[in-house]
Amino acid sequence: MAIFGSYDEKYRVLVFRIWGQSRIVTDMDAKDEVKARLSIEDVIGEYVQLKRAGRNWKGLSPFSAERTPSFVVSPDKQIWHDFSSGKGGDMFSFVMEVEGLDFREALELLARRAGVDMEQYGKGPRGSSGKSKERLYEALELATKFYQTQFAQNKTALEYVLGKRKFSKATALEWRLGYSPNNGTALVDFLRNKGYTTEEIQLAGLSSRNYRGLGDMFRGRLQIPLCDPSGRVIGFTARLLADDPQAPKYINTPATPLYDKSRHVFGLHLAKESIRKGKFVVLAEGNLDVIASHQAGVRQVVATAGTALTEPHLKALSRLTGDIRLCFDADKAGIAATERAIPVAAKVGVSLQIITIPSGKDPDELIKQDVKTWEDIITKPQYAVDWLIDRYTTALDLTTAQGKRELSDVVLRVVRQLPDTVEQDHYLGKLAELLSVNKQALTTKLAGVPDETQPVRRRAVQAEPQQIDKALFEKERTEEHLLALALLQPKLRTYLYRLQPDMISGTQQKIVFDFLQQHPDYDGTDKTAVQKFADYAKILSLVYETLYQDLDLVELGYEAARSQAKLIAQYVRTEKQQLISQLQTADPKEADTLLQRVAQLDELLRLNQGG
Ligand code: GTP
Ligand code: MN
Repeated sequence: MAIFGSYDEKYRVLVFRIWGQSRIVTDMDAKDEVKARLSIEDVIGEYVQLKRAGRNWKGLSPFSAERTPSFVVSPDKQIWHDFSSGKGGDMFSFVMEVEGLDFREALELLARRAGVDMEQYGKGPRGSSGKSKERLYEALELATKFYQTQFAQNKTALEYVLGKRKFSKATALEWRLGYSPNNGTALVDFLRNKGYTTEEIQLAGLSSRNYRGLGDMFRGRLQIPLCDPSGRVIGFTARLLADDPQAPKYINTPATPLYDKSRHVFGLHLAKESIRKGKFVVLAEGNLDVIASHQAGVRQVVATAGTALTEPHLKALSRLTGDIRLCFDADKAGIAATERAIPVAAKVGVSLQIITIPSGKDPDELIKQDVKTWEDIITKPQYAVDWLIDRYTTALDLTTAQGKRELSDVVLRVVRQLPDTVEQDHYLGKLAELLSVNKQALTTKLAGVPDETQPVRRRAVQAEPQQIDKALFEKERTEEHLLALALLQPKLRTYLYRLQPDMISGTQQKIVFDFLQQHPDYDGTDKTAVQKFADYAKILSLVYETLYQDLDLVELGYEAARSQAKLIAQYVRTEKQQLISQLQTADPKEADTLLQRVAQLDELLRLNQGG
């Protein structure tokens, strides 16, 4: 029978073709396609146990350690909101938060899950074309399985991992440990048989060229897969099974389209959950230290094995936590690495602390001897600069002029790179005390130390940002509550009238505030009017539903009044603080104006309290 025998069949094929093409040319982009195919409750449901709550779903926030569920997902609105942390958004922002990915990576992850071919949208995964990158991932996945199979059959490798290094079978499986056969071409042959070209095998970093031609990159070694944050294998680090002074202990996958050592954080795919929950991350030096710690149940541990800490490393971690604890040796190399890391951390805006292992052991050795001590020391880190000062103080003789000069040289060089003057001042004081010299002398010396870094972002002292953040977070939450009430209940907009634009801090909140000032009669029917903040409007209505659904208008009025009063009081407080500090240096005429302004603020506060 002819293929296009009947009219019907022709027609069907034609429609199918047109439909297929229209999918390519349609302006509905990959994001919308993914959104259309996946439901937000399913995506989030993979991470959070959700229970029905009316039209919405509820669960325990994955971003804080709460006991009563305040994490809400709305299928109608296609958004989530976490009342405990104030975070919220669509399915992409959720995956970004929870997986520590950027938007692009989150889109790719969800596209895979939805079966959407990113290449149709002319923007496959970054860099080389999506199809060829997919092939490399597949080759690496096959290689991992191949090495795992070999491992299970190799006595030497099993003895090394299970016996010598004391890893359990479960650990070997979780980290997908493997063994690379030593005949020279085992993996290359295997992959060629599966249809991969020599170019692909080379691009994946699995082969190397030697005098005999193309052969396996890794031979006779313990294979430790390197994974991206979502758990896909992107390369390997491979260790000798018996120490041999002639050969490098470790060899790694070279730079490939998938693997870049200056960005890669080892173990992140298995550690991220615990990092987020534990609110800090430990960076060890060796990959096997990481695996040992995970095996012992301490899972917020990762490594940047064998490479200096870079900005991309710290950025990737800072998506999960701002508290980064390095576990370095107290030897020369560790000290140098810490000195280098301090300005990088300052630039990224994370707090850098150091964990010291007693008696110069590897974390690996310590963990196997005494997990309790390991658990204990990682909770007692020391700020990097303090740690450095301590190291030098023990190494140098501070009773001599020479020793004093060396210490001040080193510390001032580091202090010079701190972005914050208050923090600088703190360490100058500490150093002055240590050296029993005048602080002024150090300040003068500091001014003469060249700045070795490019300009770094100014940031407040260690303890402060969290406090400020917390107060600001509370304030923006109050703004959000008031705006939710005002947006959904036009009658409550009177509670906005006394507010001024500069009393609102949140960016989104400002947009809604402006909108309501300009459209005091907005009744919610015209959705295009709120286009500019469509997602945030959904979040506000979810906030309203969750907090205020069951209250009557009088009670809602109280709620709005309370929020309004809070915002005004806070505004007056901070304004007055500023005016008072200005007063200290003002001349009499300026002082007059400033005092008038103070009186105005007091009046505002009086009206506010008077109702
Ligand atoms: P084990 O001896 O297996 O416990 O490893 P380790 O992590 O204790 O090794 P070590 O402290 O000697 O080195 C720290 C890290 O530097 C390692 O985890 C490797 O990532 C890296 N490294 C060590 N030796 C080599 C090497 O010969 N070549 C390369 N490329 N990296 C190495
Ligand atoms: Mn070790």
